[in-house]
Amino acid sequence: MAIVPRQHITQQKIAEHVQRLGELYPPIRLDSVDRTIKRPWLVAKKFGHVIDYLARVELEVDRNVLELLVLLPDADDTNKTFYGDVWQPQEIQHGLILDRLQQDLGRTAAEPELELSFGIKILGALAHLKPIQEIAKLMYFLTGASTERQAVLAYNKINRGMQELGETAISETIITPIKQQEPGHFAFYQMSATAMIQDKVLRPWQLFLTRVMREKSYHLVGTNHMRRYKADMGGVMATLGLDDDLEGYAREVGRVEHRLLWAHKQGMEFPPYILKALKESVELYRERLERGLKFA
Ligand SMILES: [Fe+2]
Ligand SMILES: [Fe+2]
Repeated sequence: MAIVPRQHITQQKIAEHVQRLGELYPPIRLDSVDRTIKRPWLVAKKFGHVIDYLARVELEVDRNVLELLVLLPDADDTNKTFYGDVWQPQEIQHGLILDRLQQDLGRTAAEPELELSFGIKILGALAHLKPIQEIAKLMYFLTGASTERQAVLAYNKINRGMQELGETAISETIITPIKQQEPGHFAFYQMSATAMIQDKVLRPWQLFLTRVMREKSYHLVGTNHMRRYKADMGGVMATLGLDDDLEGYAREVGRVEHRLLWAHKQGMEFPPYILKALKESVELYRERLERGLKFA
């Protein structure tokens, strides 16, 4: 079965982490941003579509909150404090700041997908059953860990890109402050998922079902199971150079769930469905390029 990590994660530790995040990182204010852009046309050409993607995904936090209200009707106080007082207020500012940046670059405003999918509604109806609720909770934490890790990697890369372009204001007053807030989100999900495994909250059949559902439903951040967003994500990866080593990227993004769900699988370095999702995005983007549409 899964290898239990060295350090025991108590609920107290998670609660303290959430409290610390709230104290250390108040939501970034729109008026704290220096809107100087030295060469807007060049920033737009190189990173416009990446900023569009990130802005949309960050603004979709409001749908994510609805999803988790549906999926986790019995969320405890730590979870409620995290998503209500820390995570949503931080992420929505990321979205608003990036959305304004994309408009400063002459691009159209983001159109976040705010409708709950049918699948979530079905799962939500089942989530009132305790064993399903427990599975949904672990899935939610694993999804969070994977998406926040993707955010950390993307912001690191785009920050370097902005610095290379000499766009100091964007780097220092937009990307750096945003980038500082993502690792704390990642740590919350990682700790929460780890605690569920350490405390043996799920029975073997529930873990089995979680693995099956991860295999069936895994998707990269912001793709919402839609072809056009998958292709967009492939474009983001290509621009940021994340497609150079897809296996290395899969290892990074899948580390938490590999350790918690798949450690018993000899020779597996990362969950194969993660690499599959990465390859699919890159291929859809290349297909789109061949058709002559850079970003539809
Ligand atoms: Fe964010
Ligand atoms: Fe985040």
